[in-house]
Amino acid sequence: MEIIASIRELRNSLNNQGHIAFVPTMGNLHDGHLKLVDIAKQHAQCVVVSIFVNPLQFGPHEDLANYPRTLEADCRKLQAAGANIVFTPSVKEMYPDAVSAGEGLNLRQTMKVTSPPIANELCGASRPGHFDGVATVVAKLFNIVQPDIAVFGKKDFQQLFIIRELVKQFNLPIEIIAGDTVREPSGLAMSSRNGYLTETQKNQAAQLYKMLESIVLRVRNGTAELGILADAASLALKELGWDVDYVSFRNQTTLMPATSEDKQLIVLAAAKLGTTRLIDNIDFLR
Ligand code: PAJ
Repeated sequence: MEIIASIRELRNSLNNQGHIAFVPTMGNLHDGHLKLVDIAKQHAQCVVVSIFVNPLQFGPHEDLANYPRTLEADCRKLQAAGANIVFTPSVKEMYPDAVSAGEGLNLRQTMKVTSPPIANELCGASRPGHFDGVATVVAKLFNIVQPDIAVFGKKDFQQLFIIRELVKQFNLPIEIIAGDTVREPSGLAMSSRNGYLTETQKNQAAQLYKMLESIVLRVRNGTAELGILADAASLALKELGWDVDYVSFRNQTTLMPATSEDKQLIVLAAAKLGTTRLIDNIDFLR
């Protein structure tokens, strides 16, 4: 396995590699990420994984500085998982025009992808600019790696949706494959941010998934109206001590608010335990 930090070297190394499958990450890898690597391996001879904590997708008061950086352990896991190339660029390598001597990052200089309005709903409502930051870095990484396929997790369903729009609307010749959410035995979705949780919070954290499971069951049984169920789940989580951002039923293919006619549904939620923001979702048919 090669570990490469420069774009030029990566391009040299990717010459004549045949089919390329790509898994972009921000590192601090867990079994959810490694599942995506596994899926990538089933689709191409050459699997490239990027590890880059992208400053463009963090808000001014978010956890960019504290985001866990565990490159050595990540590389060991990727080697064992059978990745071929790990791309670990610096901020300067990715955003040379935003880094000027002594001034740190000046992201106002950065050319960005503007996401469609759906990027301002759900997670985007409380994280303005987040999905533009994601779409921009992913567009850059796609141009650098030029993969045939790229694998993203359903755990970040709104992100997956926006990446699919990016590929469609910018005519990128890349097939996007979605990996199912990998969970702890408790049901808690694996996430690099779970490391911020205290032991007590960790025990509590599975409540988010359990709550979604219970309202999905009620929709399938046809017992109540979607809006009422989402509000009830939100209230119940608040009573359990969560600071709820949203619980929302959407149409799986458009991400528009679900109507009574929709059959392919997804329920998405974001809520904080203490200062740690967790997200989860369940897609289902009724
Ligand atoms: P990161 O949070 O590191 O996630 C990298 C990929 O792993 C994403 O596609 C995400 O959906 C997937 N993933 C995370 N947790 C998962 C789980 N429990 N099960 C399955 N897949 C999981 O998402 C990002 O990084 C960044 O926004 C990125 C796309 C790399 C752009 O900077």
